[in-house]
Amino acid sequence: MESRKLAALLSSLISQLLLLLLLIFPPNSTHSNSLPNNNSLPLIHHLLLSNQIAATLSPKRKRKRRHNLFDPDQPGSVLRSPDSFVNSYNMTSSTFEWLAGLLEPLLDCRDPAELFPINLTAGTRLGIGLFRLANGSDYPDISTRFGVPVSVVKFCVKQLCRVLCTNFRFWVSFPNSNELELVSKSFQSLSGLPNCCGAIESCRFEVFKDSTSSNRCLAAQIVVDSSGRILNIVAGFDGYKNNTTILKASTLYKDIEEGMLLNNSPSINENEVMLNQYLIGGKGYPLLPWLMVPFVDDETSPGSIEESFNEAHEVMRLSALKTAASLKNWGILRGPIHDEVKMVVAYIGACSILHNSLLMREDFTALAGALEDYHLQQERYREDSCRIEDDLVSVKALATRSTLATMARKNS
Ligand SMILES: *[C@@H]1O[C@H](CO)[C@@H](O)[C@H](O)[C@H]1NC(C)=O
Ligand SMILES: *[C@@H]1O[C@H](CO)[C@@H](O)[C@H](O)[C@H]1NC(C)=O
Ligand SMILES: *[C@@H]1O[C@H](CO)[C@@H](O)[C@H](O)[C@H]1NC(C)=O
Ligand SMILES: *[C@@H]1O[C@H](CO)[C@@H](O)[C@H](O)[C@H]1NC(C)=O
Ligand SMILES: *[C@@H]1O[C@H](CO)[C@@H](O)[C@H](O)[C@H]1NC(C)=O
Ligand SMILES: *[C@@H]1O[C@H](CO)[C@@H](O)[C@H](O)[C@H]1NC(C)=O
Repeated sequence: MESRKLAALLSSLISQLLLLLLLIFPPNSTHSNSLPNNNSLPLIHHLLLSNQIAATLSPKRKRKRRHNLFDPDQPGSVLRSPDSFVNSYNMTSSTFEWLAGLLEPLLDCRDPAELFPINLTAGTRLGIGLFRLANGSDYPDISTRFGVPVSVVKFCVKQLCRVLCTNFRFWVSFPNSNELELVSKSFQSLSGLPNCCGAIESCRFEVFKDSTSSNRCLAAQIVVDSSGRILNIVAGFDGYKNNTTILKASTLYKDIEEGMLLNNSPSINENEVMLNQYLIGGKGYPLLPWLMVPFVDDETSPGSIEESFNEAHEVMRLSALKTAASLKNWGILRGPIHDEVKMVVAYIGACSILHNSLLMREDFTALAGALEDYHLQQERYREDSCRIEDDLVSVKALATRSTLATMARKNS
């Protein structure tokens, strides 16, 4: 075997091994439990793995299998050009192939009795589901494009979301302490500030109710690393609540307050001040010992350490703003979303999981563009800052932020 082939085989075996480890030891299976449908299916996990490994071990078989797809713009024809993948599915054709291979055994089974048999390949099922997510067009439109009944379209969309949200939920699970160290190292290389474990943000999605009543709004809360990878997501909150209220209702808040997350022993800096792990958030969030928000305007003056801290803070926060904007690049999430609330939550989960898998494959097709846009967004957005309470928790939080501010000064 050529060494190039061998290397490819080895690297795919190693990634299978990582996948296997993740499945056997899910890092934090309880921490993203707001996604719908929480029945994980170990048997299907197993099936998926054995099929994947078999495919890896017999590259010839794999090469022969192509996922022929209907071109959604020309019913009856097959999608071939790489551009059409990017335009229709917001991913490159090679990502599509990879995803089709990964999902095939899961998409190709258990058709409901009333639709049976759905004579569609896994690739076409994936194409139908992805088209709804990437483009956002409605069920009848997709039905015409792909030349299949509306009931089949609905089934394929639901099935794709279900498979992603149940079997690939670990793609959005909170890192273990070793991985978290890499996360904070990478924030540190951007800003000079140590121990930051993620940037928190919340996004709102408009849901179409019906023509007689006004739309609803759903919120999701994300925590991302410096590359925009989603480390935690909880979705389905009432979007008219403010960010602080949503944070306090989330499992993330509970887990951190109870010491289940961000609980690594504190590091001690040269001034003998203990620095715990923390997240960063914008001014709509409260200042907590584990959540650092910027100093408000009247606490900062030009050239002050507070100003340096705010600058470092903003640099670290950009990835969260960029990710929130990228989620809206999925046509379905741009809204108003015409579907049941349960499905909307599934869309948010599925798009987040796809977001991470695209990043993992370095496919940046669906990522939001220029950074200036986020600054503008920030300018327009005015949520009042939280009042800082006069208690022990705040004293600790203020001390941590002051320590970080002195470090920000040194680095800039
Ligand atoms: C998880 O599953 C259990 C039992 O099937 C159910 O009672 C619970 O409501 C589910 N939770 C969510 C968040 O779907
Ligand atoms: C699928 O194919 C079978 C036989 O090839 C046919 O009898 C059946 O009607 C087809 N089902 C659909 C939904 O087109
Ligand atoms: C894909 O993402 C881009 C942003 O990068 C967006 O403008 C475009 O509408 C998306 N295409 C589809 C089909 O969703
Ligand atoms: C969905 O597809 C139609 C037709 O190809 C296109 O005109 C439209 O811009 C797409 N929407 C998005 C959000 O990409
Ligand atoms: C809070 O929520 C709003 C929407 O109400 C959102 O635009 C904003 O970016 C959020 N973030 C922060 C840090 O307040
Ligand atoms: C958020 O909403 C809660 C409840 O309505 C309110 O008590 C709190 O002051 C609000 N926080 C901010 C920062 O606006």
